[in-house]
Amino acid sequence: MRENKDEVVITSMQENRGSGHSRHSKEIWSPIIKSLPRSMAVLLFPVVVIIGALAYTSRIDPHAIWSGVSSRKSAISSKVGERRPFIGSTGKGREIPVNCSGYKHTGTCPMGMGMGEERRGGTSTCPDYFRWIDEDLRPWIGTGITEEMVERGRETANFKLVIVKGKAYLETYEKGFQTRDVFTLWGILQLLRRYPGKVPDLEIMFDCVDWPVLSSDRYNPHNPPPPLFRYCGNDHTLDIVFPDWSFWGWAEVNIKPWEILLGELKEGTKKIPWLKREPYAYWKGNPAVAETRQDLMKCNVSEKQDWNARLYAQDWGREAQEGYKKSDLASQCTHRYKVYIEGSAWSVSQKYILACDSTTLIVNPHYYDFFTRGLIPMHHYWPIKEDDKCRSIKFAVDWGNSHKERAQEIGKSASNFIQEELKMDYVYDYMFHLLSSYAKLFRYKPSISANATELCVESMVCGAEGFEKKFMMESLVKGPAITSPCTMPAPFDPPSLYAHLQRKQSSIQQVESWEKSYWENQNITS
Ligand SMILES: *[C@@H]1O[C@H](CO)[C@@H](O)[C@H](O)[C@H]1NC(C)=O
Ligand SMILES: *[C@@H]1O[C@H](CO)[C@@H](O)[C@H](O)[C@H]1NC(C)=O
Ligand SMILES: *[C@@H]1O[C@H](CO)[C@@H](O)[C@H](O)[C@H]1NC(C)=O
Repeated sequence: MRENKDEVVITSMQENRGSGHSRHSKEIWSPIIKSLPRSMAVLLFPVVVIIGALAYTSRIDPHAIWSGVSSRKSAISSKVGERRPFIGSTGKGREIPVNCSGYKHTGTCPMGMGMGEERRGGTSTCPDYFRWIDEDLRPWIGTGITEEMVERGRETANFKLVIVKGKAYLETYEKGFQTRDVFTLWGILQLLRRYPGKVPDLEIMFDCVDWPVLSSDRYNPHNPPPPLFRYCGNDHTLDIVFPDWSFWGWAEVNIKPWEILLGELKEGTKKIPWLKREPYAYWKGNPAVAETRQDLMKCNVSEKQDWNARLYAQDWGREAQEGYKKSDLASQCTHRYKVYIEGSAWSVSQKYILACDSTTLIVNPHYYDFFTRGLIPMHHYWPIKEDDKCRSIKFAVDWGNSHKERAQEIGKSASNFIQEELKMDYVYDYMFHLLSSYAKLFRYKPSISANATELCVESMVCGAEGFEKKFMMESLVKGPAITSPCTMPAPFDPPSLYAHLQRKQSSIQQVESWEKSYWENQNITS
């Protein structure tokens, strides 16, 4: 595997395993966005309705203890004050202990976590982007999911995770890049702690490599793809998207767990108000990972030209030596405009950029992750043309500096979206609803294979060291949530999906037409 470094981020480059992009015009599973009418038929299949509010039983363990991690609490609270960064919306609930001395003694995972608490009713509706869960699972609506389908995913999967009776069992096929597999598994274990006994039995094949591989033209409703989980997708593939590792931390580049970082970013945005920020478009990252980024570098300010862009290359080697002082994300909210551009695929940096209160300029993206399909152009961000970046950025910044109210609003909507709709509670609820809906499609009973080993918080954290251990402890879910998961919004029906995509498309076209007349006028006046 070849790996390259990304901006705040390292994104892996890898050989594109097994996904030929041949385009045949047989009965294909066409990407919904590119050819909606053809997908209409598929969309009319019955839809799995997810019951968000489940009946929960109560069993509070008064002897629950919290061992081995007592130092963690004070270490964190000194940083983020009195916030309780671990289980978001929980009040005082039962805590599930982490018993490393017990684990080291017996070498086995603890017996179980009991059941969840009594839930309070009247929960909120999940953010709109949860509607994509149904779209991602649509390929299996007619057929269900069989063991044969799951096993086919093994070809590229890094691991298979089996959940039976609320416990996790892992079979590793190929170690993932850095600790992305480790923190993904850690995240799923936290979900099991948050909703003990509520995540149904299932098996997932997970591919930790950047690029989606299940090309939609190879499958159709009678021949569905293997269900394969990964961090991102695009309009030509059928991989199922799942939150990436960075929500629990990225040990290699010192990116903290999202819960903590989100608080720091909120503070960071307050330092310089939008109007006082540099009136330019800022980007910092590694241009080497993608041609489109090298192309972006041509827009940097020089003695001869100023496209309103201030672009910087990230030097990860030096950053690591100097203790990541210059890559502190919360202190990168210094410009009115921030550029987001993909690396080798989606980039985990998008949430950090959108959180800044700056107006985000998004260079037309090709990949989505689980939440980015909820972003609306002109509301959350300003679209930038991919094939004419410099002029597009120049116009965006000029427009914003002469429509300051509107430009600030776009920045504010994005950071509100990130702070409210992408808080950790919703990341867990997304995982919960996705896995629950997925499990409902199962046509077989998942079982623990001979090669699988039990995975528990103790087996992961007790032997960990350094940033890995630190981030695990900081992102540990202390115990069951005392509120129910959010309630799923109504799924898209063909008209509402069509309207949604139309709205996005017409906003982008609007910007393009303004941009066109802006440059036509420049040519006349110059
Ligand atoms: C940890 O586990 C060991 C062995 O199972 C047990 O004897 C001990 O009481 C446990 N410690 C706590 C604090 O629960
Ligand atoms: C862009 O220009 C600025 C100002 O001249 C410079 O400091 C920076 O290094 C340039 N960025 C790149 C990636 O060359
Ligand atoms: C378990 O692993 C062994 C050795 O890698 C392999 O030969 C065997 O097929 C595996 N069994 C299953 C059920 O996957």
